Amino acid sequence: MNVKGKVVLSMLVVSTVIVVFWEYIHSPEGSFLWIYHSKGENQDSESEKVPSRSYYQNPEVGDSRIRKGWWFPSWFNNGTHIYHEEEDIDGEQEQREENNEELQLSDWFNPQKRPEVVTVTGWKAPVVWEGTYNSTILENYYGKQKITVGLTVFAVGRYIEHYLEEFLISANRYFMVGHKVIFYIMVDDVSRMPLIELGPLRSFKVFEIEPEKRWQDISMMRMKTIGEHIVAHIQHEVDFLFCMDVDQVFQDSFGVETLGQSVAQLQAWWYKADPDEFTYERRKESAAYIPFGQGDFYYHAAIFGGTPIQVLNITQECFKGILQDKKNDIEAEWHDESHLNKYFLLNKPTKILSPEYCWDYHIGLPSDIKTVKISWQTKEYNLVRNNI
Ligand SMILES: *[C@@H]1O[C@H](CO)[C@@H](O)[C@H](O)[C@H]1NC(C)=O
Ligand SMILES: *[C@@H]1O[C@H](CO)[C@@H](O)[C@H](O)[C@H]1NC(C)=O
Ligand SMILES: *[C@@H]1O[C@H](CO)[C@@H](O)[C@H](O)[C@H]1NC(C)=O
Repeated sequence: MNVKGKVVLSMLVVSTVIVVFWEYIHSPEGSFLWIYHSKGENQDSESEKVPSRSYYQNPEVGDSRIRKGWWFPSWFNNGTHIYHEEEDIDGEQEQREENNEELQLSDWFNPQKRPEVVTVTGWKAPVVWEGTYNSTILENYYGKQKITVGLTVFAVGRYIEHYLEEFLISANRYFMVGHKVIFYIMVDDVSRMPLIELGPLRSFKVFEIEPEKRWQDISMMRMKTIGEHIVAHIQHEVDFLFCMDVDQVFQDSFGVETLGQSVAQLQAWWYKADPDEFTYERRKESAAYIPFGQGDFYYHAAIFGGTPIQVLNITQECFKGILQDKKNDIEAEWHDESHLNKYFLLNKPTKILSPEYCWDYHIGLPSDIKTVKISWQTKEYNLVRNNI
């Protein structure tokens, strides 16, 4: 660890002690939480409950799944800067309401710039490829709006060591540069959170989640957890929200051209395939069922987003489907991704991101892919998953 790292670490320790002490003194019940703790509902009853590391549970909050608590302020925000989101959010909302002139699609989007690929869907939504958008105009617009963008990411078990640090460092560098960002980091063990120095305008909140035994369940429970956090606080904190997998790395600017009401991403392996080849769920018994002859695109569950209210609907509907499948003793072929594809078939996304936004270099680098914004990490499933 270099000297800077040591300074940051000791600051963390000191500020933790101060915050914990302060909160202890000021807490009316003499008990407090400094990390949100959300519990998995679908835990097998016979399975041993893995003790979660919520530090101080407040017994009075009862069965509310997300317990109100203390969150990490942005201690790492440029080393020294400590501030609270809540205080300045209200003022910004007023300002946002004043700037209500709408940006038209044709102002910033030119589908003719990429004639070799699909740039507009049948329902007239833009498919954003490198070259189709004008960053200057978009930056000017969203800069005036003073937006805040959220990004949720989950890392459980060995995913923390293998992927989280690189994901966060690269997101800090490339995600919504110049705009306020809140990272919502869900881990099963807060003590293993990597130390990361974030740039100005960036902050993060760490939440502890109950680990699921199977990675399929971790992946599916994500939908439930995101929904709960949107209801509890995210809806008041951000204007747009993205939900991403952790096993990927930002490689280039992922900017405001990606913002929209509901945003889906074209899965790299399938962007040129015929819908009948897609790996949709094809069994009628599943809630994620999509018959042959239907379907627009194969969307990647590694990246989806939109306004908090739209993302809430996405996650709630997907989770409903997942629960229905559990009841019927069926699991969709690609888990939450199958349900996400069903959702976006019924509720068309208002914006689609090209595979440049989440590319897999194992495919090679065809000329369609001009700039890789995010790339898949090597999937070391044998190392990070308990069950394959
Ligand atoms: C973006 O729009 C601005 C203002 O209309 C224009 O000056 C600029 O050339 C455009 N940039 C691109 C890359 O089209
Ligand atoms: C910290 O903030 C200063 C002043 O705003 C800036 O010059 C510097 O680049 C920032 N450092 C990091 C690591 O973001
Ligand atoms: C939420 O999803 C349901 C089910 O697909 C749909 O009927 C409804 O219109 C959606 N609501 C919004 C606000 O998109």
